[in-house]
Amino acid sequence: MMRLNKFLTKAGMFARRKCDQYIFSGFVYVNGKRITNPGLKIDENKDEVVLFNKKIVFKKKYKYIILNKPKDCVTTLDDERGRKKVVDYIDIKERLFPVGRLDIDTTGVLLLTNDGEVSYRLSHPKYEINKVYNVSLDKKISRGDIEKLKKGVEIGKDEVVYGSVKIIENSSKKYVVSITVHTGRKRQVKRMFNVLGYSVLELDRVEFAGMVKDGLKPGEWRNLTKEEVDSLKNMIN
Ligand code: URA
Repeated sequence: MMRLNKFLTKAGMFARRKCDQYIFSGFVYVNGKRITNPGLKIDENKDEVVLFNKKIVFKKKYKYIILNKPKDCVTTLDDERGRKKVVDYIDIKERLFPVGRLDIDTTGVLLLTNDGEVSYRLSHPKYEINKVYNVSLDKKISRGDIEKLKKGVEIGKDEVVYGSVKIIENSSKKYVVSITVHTGRKRQVKRMFNVLGYSVLELDRVEFAGMVKDGLKPGEWRNLTKEEVDSLKNMIN
């Protein structure tokens, strides 16, 4: 809820004093009714405001954030079990929601925004957004299995997904690969390796739509730059 004159000012129409004048002079209608009180409280998401016979669309200022998600927190906004949530790490007044989801024990790049359209599109398979994960496995991966992942593996009924794999570490104790996928099915990466007989010991998302952690420690976040937001929007237009 906000005052009518504030709504018009924030919508970028005119300066506050001009908006007051237009309201006093009877040029403003709210839900079809002429309003001359600039202090009237309106719901910016529901009420229809018309000035000079034109519907005013409220320009919401969107926020776009990158968080390096730590372990032991959930990407859901409400958790009936009272577990720590990713939004608990972000101390700002806007209510943001994560773009897609990560499992409780998965770490790494998570975008959060209040821009529903951008979030929806970034999660849509049609746009083939790159997601890169570093995966710690319980054993050495074979060439054959790398090929199988490339050609597609069935992780559920009628659910075939693809990934291109690079070996990062292949010593006698640590087996780490990177996998790039374009879809975001539930527990997708773990299921891809599980069906081939591997256990995933650690999962870290190192890139989402070209965005990388770049010095953010687990639990730290920053606003995306204007250039980064523009690049995201270019990918989904
Ligand atoms: N794939 C998974 O299995 N888990 C995640 O958190 C993300 C991708």
